Amino acid sequence: MLSHQTVQAHVYAHATVTHFRKSSTPAFKKKTQSEAAPSSIYIVGTGGTIAGTAASSTAATYAPSQLSVEQVIAAIPAITDFEENIHASNLFQVNSEDMTSQLWLQLAKRVNTLLASPDVKGVVITHGTDTLEETAYFLDLVVKSNKPVVIVGSMRASTSMSADGPLNLYNALAVIHAPESAGRGVMVMMNDTIYDARDVTKCNTTQLNTFNSPNSGPIGHVTYGKIKFEKRVERKNTTETTFDVSDLNELPTVEIVYEYAGSTGKLLKAAIALKPDGIVIAGSGDGNLHARDKALLRYASEAGIQIARSSRTGSGSVTETDIDYPNTENGTVAADNLNPQKARILLMLSLTQTKQACEIRKNFSLY
Ligand code: DGL
Repeated sequence: MLSHQTVQAHVYAHATVTHFRKSSTPAFKKKTQSEAAPSSIYIVGTGGTIAGTAASSTAATYAPSQLSVEQVIAAIPAITDFEENIHASNLFQVNSEDMTSQLWLQLAKRVNTLLASPDVKGVVITHGTDTLEETAYFLDLVVKSNKPVVIVGSMRASTSMSADGPLNLYNALAVIHAPESAGRGVMVMMNDTIYDARDVTKCNTTQLNTFNSPNSGPIGHVTYGKIKFEKRVERKNTTETTFDVSDLNELPTVEIVYEYAGSTGKLLKAAIALKPDGIVIAGSGDGNLHARDKALLRYASEAGIQIARSSRTGSGSVTETDIDYPNTENGTVAADNLNPQKARILLMLSLTQTKQACEIRKNFSLY
């Protein structure tokens, strides 16, 4: 059972959706006047720095999650460039370090409901950057549409000098507008760059260029609304996955344990004692842990806790055929090239369907 959320998310239960009028001569027009083409784009606000405010334009400290998404959009007069009807509302208002499984499920259901409408072309989500990559991958696995979904944030508060939020959001809308964006899974738009949800990760505490995809690189770039895709993702996502959260009200509990020189094994033992549904090991190197603890993983597996071995290195794969750790014998799963926080998400969703390690292994090779 998930513990009750100690974080009070400001949930906008009956948010009014604000509609933004397009200009009479929008810069972004359909290339062909196809009939009944989807004409609406929804922006779903969730909080973060993109909605943050500071005491001055040069203040390093600021308060995230202060502005409504309508107020954020007010900083983008060029939003009238888009021929689509743009609608915006907050689903909730949280700093993304406070994100929870419940909020993920709420967001996923909202996005799937919006995308199911024939009139909706795609959805932009404004989000804090700290856990943006996790929400992106979760949605990449549970959104059931080929329509584009783009998650966007900012590294500078909305009131900062050279705030990056407005252009990030403008470019995210341009990605939704572009017909070639369909069928690419959930995407992240930051700093003129388009990333796929599976590989993108936050790599720096403060820099504008904090996001990167260490294993596969960006999938495209945007220059003031002009899109250029460079590659397509290989892993299955969205409509190609078997995950369905429509009837789920909670997710399995999966903890992450970080390995380091001199680790005592006490945290791993404590995590096992909590009896979670799964544990991800953020191992050293290619998913390694202290020799003393290898037997613990087998004990955990036999106690019904599914172990996935990931790596703290930030890139590269932990494979099933590691020379120094026989996963199959120990009932553990190798997390491939998913970092620990991403591996946790795939393990959580896999555990909504099965407890069979062999079935879960298949998911780590597919998604
Ligand atoms: N509290 C952090 C978050 O909401 C602010 C960082 C940001 O949004 O860039 O993720």
